[in-house]
Amino acid sequence: MSTETFRLRYLAKSIAGVPRDLIQTAVAAVRAIKPTVFIYNCTWVCDAQCEMCNNWKWGNRKEDMTLAQMDGVMDSPFWGDVENLNISGGEPTTRNDLPELVEMFYRRLPRMRKVGINTTGLTPQRAIPMLTRIVDFCGEKNLLVSIRVSIDGVGDMHDQVRNVKRGFDKANKTIEAMQALAARSPHFQFGIASTIFAQNLDDARNIREWARSKNLDIVFNMLRFTDNMLHNAELETTIGFGSREEAFMREFFLDQVAGESILSGQSFMYLHYADMISNGYHRTMPCPFQRQGLLLNPNGELFYCENSEKLGNVLDTPAGNLYFGANQLEGRETLKRETCPTCLSPCQVNVGAMKQVVPYVKFLRRAYKVKHDPSRHLKTLPDPVR
Ligand SMILES: C[S@@+](CC[C@H](N)C(=O)[O-])C[C@H]1O[C@@H](n2cnc3c(N)ncnc32)[C@H](O)[C@@H]1O
Ligand code: SF4
Ligand code: SF4
Repeated sequence: MSTETFRLRYLAKSIAGVPRDLIQTAVAAVRAIKPTVFIYNCTWVCDAQCEMCNNWKWGNRKEDMTLAQMDGVMDSPFWGDVENLNISGGEPTTRNDLPELVEMFYRRLPRMRKVGINTTGLTPQRAIPMLTRIVDFCGEKNLLVSIRVSIDGVGDMHDQVRNVKRGFDKANKTIEAMQALAARSPHFQFGIASTIFAQNLDDARNIREWARSKNLDIVFNMLRFTDNMLHNAELETTIGFGSREEAFMREFFLDQVAGESILSGQSFMYLHYADMISNGYHRTMPCPFQRQGLLLNPNGELFYCENSEKLGNVLDTPAGNLYFGANQLEGRETLKRETCPTCLSPCQVNVGAMKQVVPYVKFLRRAYKVKHDPSRHLKTLPDPVR
């Protein structure tokens, strides 16, 4: 099905939730509320060895929480407000019980609107049946599902970034199967995701053109460094953006704004990335993890977000106790003051955007101006968020 149709469905679900969102946002300003966005890295085991991410070095199946352990962790009303779930890793499809995990989340997360899965697609014989089962299950349960296969170059470049022989061809098998599945599944949004950095910068426009030629929705990730999520803080000194990459990416993101519908979450994110490159990396976009998010890693370690301190381990202490702990909440305030102002995380940023009606309307006006004349971008730069 078309991405636009999926967006409309998602928008309809979001609009149905607006009265509740407004109340939640008002409540969150005075007291801590339960999480509504949740990222679960289900394993660090991986079928690639990427140059910009070190998760593959941490793969250890014995440390992954089992399905039964996860079911126990999720058996609490604490999780009852989660609306958006993202399952990532490592490579999620290396877990044979991935479909059962999704089914468990459906039972345990009564308010879930959408589940997202990132995958390499590099093991098509395993990934295709598994992802098909998940998409069909979500269809039966009227749950929106979004899947993205990562592509970091066309042909050899992808294989070099991911250090996988014939990786592009393998990922393409999964892409073709998922595209066909999406064509018959109105609740399923399929696309690709791409991370651009010095190594594949010269291929960025090729990737965009290739995606267009295949009618594939594409998201470009902003390169970032986080140990909680990518184990790659040490790579910042070697592969972090220099001035060549900054200049290229600013223009590239503005091009994306010009080419995307301003109503898409992507356009919101791209404009803000162009802002951050231009303003010395001061964040100008909201983040739902500041007040209503959680990140859970394979061995049970829990974080407010990809840049927060560890809250504890859910195998030792119930997640709700960790999340609402007085020391932890104080730590989240410090995070907001010290880390958020320069954080590049895009995680569920469109969720945060739509929940903040006034800033979102301001963004729409600005995006409209920039879309029609990218040279006006610098004149429209907003104040950093506090
Ligand atoms: C960490 S991977 C996990 C899922 C799966 N293994 C995959 O590669 O799609 C999730 C997404 O993070 C992106 N990513 C990897 N390294 C990154 C980095 N340094 N900065 C931003 N995004 C990155 C990947 O390209 C992928 O789209
Ligand atoms: S980006 Fe994905 S595939 Fe690459 S090492 Fe990280 S987790 Fe594995
Ligand atoms: S540090 Fe980043 S990811 Fe964490 S709450 Fe702040 S803006 Fe969001």
